[in-house]
Amino acid sequence: MPLPDLLDAVRRNASLPADQAEATPPQVYTSPEFLELELTQIFNREWICVGREDEFANPGDYRVTRISRDEVVILRDRDGTLRAMSNICRHRMMSLLEGDGNIPSKITCPYHAWTYTLDGQLIGASHMRENFDKSTCRLPQYQVEVWLGFVYVNLDPDAAPLAPRLAPLAERFTNYQVASYRALFRVNEVWDTNWKILFQNFMEPYHLFAVHTHTVEPVLPTKHAHAVTGGLGFNLYVQGRMPDVAFEYGEAMQNPNPALSEEEAMSVPLFGAFPAHMCSISAERTFWMSLMPITTDKVQVFWGVDVHPAAMPEGDAFAERVETLKESFHAINDEDKPITAAIARNAAALAAEPGRLSPKEQTIWEFQRYLAERLTGPLET
Ligand code: FES
Ligand SMILES: [Fe+2]
Repeated sequence: MPLPDLLDAVRRNASLPADQAEATPPQVYTSPEFLELELTQIFNREWICVGREDEFANPGDYRVTRISRDEVVILRDRDGTLRAMSNICRHRMMSLLEGDGNIPSKITCPYHAWTYTLDGQLIGASHMRENFDKSTCRLPQYQVEVWLGFVYVNLDPDAAPLAPRLAPLAERFTNYQVASYRALFRVNEVWDTNWKILFQNFMEPYHLFAVHTHTVEPVLPTKHAHAVTGGLGFNLYVQGRMPDVAFEYGEAMQNPNPALSEEEAMSVPLFGAFPAHMCSISAERTFWMSLMPITTDKVQVFWGVDVHPAAMPEGDAFAERVETLKESFHAINDEDKPITAAIARNAAALAAEPGRLSPKEQTIWEFQRYLAERLTGPLET
């Protein structure tokens, strides 16, 4: 399907009323031209989650990530400022840093050893002519915003701040004190699916009883989950938890957070901060993912779990609990991987057609509306 026709289809789909909502037109998952448009219109301009602020506690703590087609380093500089800047050398475009860690004083390019300070200023370049002025050379800097302890980066210098459009979420989560949660573990992996299939999968509770029958469903059943009307920048649903069980570990929940009302302690909200950050929040932990498309059918998935400071046992039991949590969340992801991969394959089939959505999938309808607005302009409300 030519791109203009596909964009028309996206707009038509997004214009359906909520009670007539249909799934996403399949070419939206398979078209390379559509992906190109997403990279330029969405990922080059939107807030992308790159981790938690406590992962960058000390000067020199850094992580390299990819946003759209750009390698970006997030780094705490020597003055304590959390920065995001290009990880691409200003000489001949070599990558400067890799992975994550701590870089105590300077960033040195592995190719010809140009050297930068932690705020991106070039200070060393040997064997250069005298007419080369190092002071004019600095790594491009990007906007950084911390919201509820999550660190977001935006490549667009003109992008509006993130917090105002997520304000209704921050208000709803006040008592959870999410900013105080501590990073527990991180996983960086590639899934064989389109990024939107995974976003939509994480953000709907309809599949829990069928796919996560023995993991999530006994604890957070589909029947107790409902979508809450989202906003310009997010969607949201809330799960009701069954008393006295947890899927993350063998024992029942001990609510570690006295600030929560009984109702809050017994619910687990999940938000999707558009375009690609999804997060589940309980009294004890977060479980979140940040997505970056690679191709139409491969997505980089950076995910992890953070815990309320009082939720973890001390001593030897701590490490044991971390292992149990890792296993539980890997088990859930292992249930979602074959599903999301099959949908990505089937989206290319002659018989691929979008079906009607359940009210439990209102979050998908809202995400489709966001995409349509970003790619084709404002919709009528
Ligand atoms: S590319 Fe970095 S020093 Fe040459
Ligand atoms: Fe799932």
